[in-house]
Amino acid sequence: MKGIILAGGTGTRLRPLTQVMNKHLLPVYDRPMIYYPIQTLTEAGITDIMIVSGKGHAGGFLELLQSGAQFGARFSYGVQDAAGGIAQALGLCEDFADGGPVAVILGDNIIFDSIKDAVSDFRRQQRGAKIFLKEVPNPQSFGVAEVHAGKIVGIEEKPKNPKTKLAVIGLYCYDAQVWEMVKTLKPSARGELEITDVNNFYIQQGTMTYEILEGWWGDGGESFESLLQAGTLAAERAKSQK
Ligand code: DAU
Repeated sequence: MKGIILAGGTGTRLRPLTQVMNKHLLPVYDRPMIYYPIQTLTEAGITDIMIVSGKGHAGGFLELLQSGAQFGARFSYGVQDAAGGIAQALGLCEDFADGGPVAVILGDNIIFDSIKDAVSDFRRQQRGAKIFLKEVPNPQSFGVAEVHAGKIVGIEEKPKNPKTKLAVIGLYCYDAQVWEMVKTLKPSARGELEITDVNNFYIQQGTMTYEILEGWWGDGGESFESLLQAGTLAAERAKSQK
């Protein structure tokens, strides 16, 4: 299975840190933020990876990450001309996917759990999609899943009054239906093609499965606090593994 890391977007919530520097290249303890999603994929055996970045930043990613050999991986690169949304960035990867399933991770998501078993489960699933949930204290900052009797019934993007505390994290497994689906999307109120609309398509089709993450998860781009917490926990984890 191939992997996709989406690292476009504008990073407005972290200005002025992101005025000049791309969000995904900011330090999280001892490494740039994007190293964490790379590690999440390679640890799961996904080494053929396309990285999509925004206009004006692609050179920095190439310079830093190169061919991917230093990670035991092979990288391809794509450029999103304007920040038209996560699902728009994903749509740029259709040729790369070459008709196969993909694991998609957002470049600002830091996941401490291994996703290896979940990815194997998805491959056995054969059809549909899989998402990953984490209980959080501030669900209104994320996509929020409503789950009934072990099944996801819907996702709301950043709801004012969340129905649960289950955030949909930025890691998604999709079958090849996703490429036709993204072509049907219309921009949301914030002018973006929303990944939540893609996920709700699979939920309505009855082919969406999910996992709940046990370990720590952070969205490093959500706030200064989340970036700081990611760095602190990454440091503790690195020291405990020595
Ligand atoms: O982190 C998990 C959350 O990520 C989910 O719970 C939400 O459902 C999902 O919409 C997303 O929300 P964010 O508001 O955090 O998305 P953000 O605009 O910060 O974009 C996250 C990453 O997606 C960013 O690091 C790079 C990539 N991206 C984003 C946009 C808007 C792109 O590659 N291109 C884009 O145009």
